[in-house]
Amino acid sequence: MTRSFPDGFLWGVSTSAYQVEGAVEADGRVPSIWDVYSHTPGKIDGGGTGDVACDHYRRWENDLDLIASLNASAYRFSLAWPRLFTPGERRGWDHYDRLIDGLLGRGIEPVVTLYHWDLPQALEDTGGWLNRDTAERFAEHAARCFDAYGDRVGWWLTINEPWIVGLLGYLLGLHAPGYEGDLRGEVTVFHHLLLAHGRAVQEFRVGANPGRIGLAPNLMPHYPLTGSGADGEAAWGSEGYVNRWFLDAIFRGRYPDDQRERYEAQAGPLDFVRDGDLETIAEPTDFLGVNYYAPRWLEAVPGDTPWPWRVVVPDGLETTGGFTDGVPQTEAGTPIVPFGLTDLLVGIHRDYGDVPLLITENGAVFGDEPGEDGRVRDERRVEFVRTHVGAVLEAIDRGAPVVGYCHWSLMDNFEWKLGYGQRFGLVHVDYDTLARTVKDSGRYFARLAAANALLEPEEAAL
Ligand code: FCB
Repeated sequence: MTRSFPDGFLWGVSTSAYQVEGAVEADGRVPSIWDVYSHTPGKIDGGGTGDVACDHYRRWENDLDLIASLNASAYRFSLAWPRLFTPGERRGWDHYDRLIDGLLGRGIEPVVTLYHWDLPQALEDTGGWLNRDTAERFAEHAARCFDAYGDRVGWWLTINEPWIVGLLGYLLGLHAPGYEGDLRGEVTVFHHLLLAHGRAVQEFRVGANPGRIGLAPNLMPHYPLTGSGADGEAAWGSEGYVNRWFLDAIFRGRYPDDQRERYEAQAGPLDFVRDGDLETIAEPTDFLGVNYYAPRWLEAVPGDTPWPWRVVVPDGLETTGGFTDGVPQTEAGTPIVPFGLTDLLVGIHRDYGDVPLLITENGAVFGDEPGEDGRVRDERRVEFVRTHVGAVLEAIDRGAPVVGYCHWSLMDNFEWKLGYGQRFGLVHVDYDTLARTVKDSGRYFARLAAANALLEPEEAAL
C-alpha cells in the first residue's frame, strides 16, 4: 500500500564541506582543525585526509545534476568557514553563491549548515571552542553569511552535533582538536557552541531574513536495559547528557538540574555560564534539525565515572525497548532500529511542543561495490531507507510535525576518524577515479521523492 507524505515534504541528501569538498588549498582557503588533525600521523584509520575527498568543490555542477537526478527537493551542505575567513577574499563566497544559485535553478532547496566541525585553525590557536570569544567570532561570521545568502536560503542550521564535538574532540580524543579526558573542557565547549548558536539566531533576526533557522543536534532515544528502577534512572540520566542538555537549553532556557549536578560533582562549578547566557541560547528558533542514527540502551553502574551508567550493545538482549534477539547492525556495528526514530520524533513533540522537525541526517554504513555490470546492489541500504522513511511516516501519523527527511549521505565520503573505509552514500564514489555511480538505494530514494510516498522496493521497480 502506498502511503503519502504531506505536501511540500522535503526529500533531501546531506553532506558537509570537509567530508566532500577537497581542494583544501583552493581560492584562499585557510587550514582548519581537521586539516591539522587528519595530517597528524596515526589519527585517521587508513591514513586518509580531506585533501581531495570527493572533489566536490570542483565538481559541484555535476554533483548538482546528480542531486537533481535523485529527485531531491533539498540539499543539505555546509559552508566551510576556512573558505570565508580571510577578509577581502571573495572566491570562497563566490563559490557558494554559484552553488546556491545552481540549486535554486534546479528547483532544490539549499539547507545550509554554518558549522560542521571545520573550525579555522587560527581560531583553535586562540583556544577554539574553549574560548568564549569563539562564539562571538562565529556570530560575526554567521551575520556575514546571512548578508551574503540570506535572501535565497530557506533553511539554516547553526551548529552540527554539539554533543559529538565535545565528546569526541575533548573527552575521547577521537576527533579534532583531539583532547582526551577533559570533562570540564567538554561541558565548556557544549556551552560555547550553544552560545554561538543563540548569538547566530540573534544575528539572523536582526537581518530580517526570510528563511528559517535551527540547531542540528544528534539525538538518541533512550531505553533502559531492564525494567529495574536503577536502569530507568540510568536511561533518564544519559538522556540528560545527550539530549536534554541541548534541548532544554534551547527550548526552555535552562540546563537540566540532574545533569548539571553530575557535571558540577565531576568537573567543578560551571562558572563559565554567565548571567543572560541561557536567554541567548533560548532565542526562539523556527525548526529543529534531527540527526538520528541509533538509540542508546543503558545499564546502571553505580559509582562508575564520569557517569553511573554503561551503554550496552543490545545484541541478543531482551529490553524494555521491545528487543528480542539479534538486533541487525550496520557494517559499523550500529544497531538498525527504525522504531527508535519514531519514538524520538514523537518524544520531542511531546516534550518540546510544536516545533517543526527536519531530519537532517539518517543513514548507515554498507560497503557495497559496483558489480560486473557496474550496478551497486546495496539492498541493505534500500531496506534501511524503506524502514526509516516508514518510521517517519509513523511519527507523522502520531502527530509529530516532521517537515522533511535528509539522508546521510548524498555520496560516500571522508568519514572523519574512520577515513574512507565507511561508505554512507546513496551514490558510490570510486576514490581512484572519483567516478560517481548511483546505487540502488539512490534510485529507490529518487522514486520515493518523486512519489512523495513510501513505496515498496518492488513497486519502485529498481
Ligand atoms: C554524523 C556527522 C556526519 C557524518 C555522520 C555519519 O555524526 O554529523 O558528518 O559523519 O555522522
